[in-house]
Amino acid sequence: MIITIDGPAAAGKGTLAQKLAQKYGLAYFDTGMVYRAVGLDLILHNINPESEQNALAIARGLTFSKMIELSKHPEFRSDIGGQAASKVAALASVRAELLKMQQDFAVNPSFADGKKANGVVYDGRDTGTVVCPNADIKLFVTATAEVRAMRRYKEYLDKGFASSFDEVLSQTRERDIRDSSRTSAPLKPADDAVIIDTSDMSIDEVFNNVCQLIDKKY
Ligand code: C5P
Repeated sequence: MIITIDGPAAAGKGTLAQKLAQKYGLAYFDTGMVYRAVGLDLILHNINPESEQNALAIARGLTFSKMIELSKHPEFRSDIGGQAASKVAALASVRAELLKMQQDFAVNPSFADGKKANGVVYDGRDTGTVVCPNADIKLFVTATAEVRAMRRYKEYLDKGFASSFDEVLSQTRERDIRDSSRTSAPLKPADDAVIIDTSDMSIDEVFNNVCQLIDKKY
């Protein structure tokens, strides 16, 4: 079974994806990691993340193990990492280069310990439209910019990153504009996606609704 969860930053995709993966024995692919890995590698080499040639060269050399290694860096999940990811993700050539790595994962899905999985939950804004257009279940998870910024702000506080709510809100809006207006894979739901607005829902409510939807289909 392949499930895709698309939607804007901090809409709750990751938490939902991990809960679904655990319940149905599926591997989890957080596709934002491929863009974060390329963005962070550029920053670590003091290269502007908008430099297409350099970003493309790094994307070409990206492997799963290199991505996991980079994910241990403190800036990988920070806003600096997120902004760099969003910049490289706007480059069509970089997206095309990173597509195969994402799609190949569904051929022989496995967990981190190498055990075979029953399928994959893909988390990322173009997974239902571009990465897996034939997915069995497609979800588009969203929430207002204010609600998403508050969730991200709390996450940053938990991780000890210095930030203010107003700053996170303006960063969220900035990323939304870049992610929705870019010509390459703009943020939009697949025609056959189920749209879930989580602004007024707890994660358990969202999870239970989605499980009902899956269990009805299978
Ligand atoms: O989800 P996350 O915040 O880790 O994603 C970082 C950035 O990577 C996003 O802002 C977006 O620009 C980009 N991204 C993307 N397509 C995906 C996943 C992430 O363009 N499937």
